[in-house]
Amino acid sequence: MDNTEFSKKIIVAIDGYSSSGKSTMARELAARVGYVYVDSGAMYRAVTLYAIRNNMVDPDKKIKTAELVAALPDIHISFLPSGDDGIQHTLLNGEDVEKLIRDMEVSNLVSPVAVIPEVRARLTAIQQEFGSHKGIVMDGRDIGTTVFPEAELKVFVCASPEERARRRLKEMQGKGENVTFDEVLHNVVERDRIDTTREVSPLRKADDALELDNGNMSPAEQMDWLIRRFNERCGL
Ligand code: CDP
Repeated sequence: MDNTEFSKKIIVAIDGYSSSGKSTMARELAARVGYVYVDSGAMYRAVTLYAIRNNMVDPDKKIKTAELVAALPDIHISFLPSGDDGIQHTLLNGEDVEKLIRDMEVSNLVSPVAVIPEVRARLTAIQQEFGSHKGIVMDGRDIGTTVFPEAELKVFVCASPEERARRRLKEMQGKGENVTFDEVLHNVVERDRIDTTREVSPLRKADDALELDNGNMSPAEQMDWLIRRFNERCGL
């Protein structure tokens, strides 16, 4: 199907809980319809990696907020459309950090970094710029509520914490990482807690978002569902 060039371009916002499969869905939809894909979580992860590398994390795991905020103008995040594995890679000041930002150390610190209002304001502005010509699929926590409240298609993805931890464990083990189910489950639950209770742009379903509980759906069923909704919104 590539009749999208004859229809209007839209913005697709896919939000939801950690490891709910948002990124896979969003990436695949973008590839199928010829849209740009942006993984907003990767941007928060890249800022977190910068903080770790530049000694902006206390020994008790508290982020040195003032130092990180002062360094924000020096943090440049961009994307390489297709890395050696064929998927989009995240660049931090020009360096490919795609693998490093998926580490457990980054996963454990990213939600505390993502509560910092100045970090959110800067990343939100960059994300809005990416979407200024529409034709974009972006996934994250606040895309339908804060980044693109006017998005034509908003999806909110959920599944139980155990199901999400099982998926994430499989993905991490596939990459040769040495983690246990309990560690992953703890990280998923803790990030959900911080993401839903923070003051600025907490994770919540936008009133006009479609809810997708994909706990019992195969990836193919999920993609059919999404493509149908996309076509409806484009008037196809
Ligand atoms: O892929 P996964 O579900 O593990 O999470 P992610 O999309 O990589 O996002 C990592 C973290 O960044 C989330 O747990 C949030 O704390 C934060 N985030 C956010 O606050 N706002 C977004 N739009 C995207 C991510």
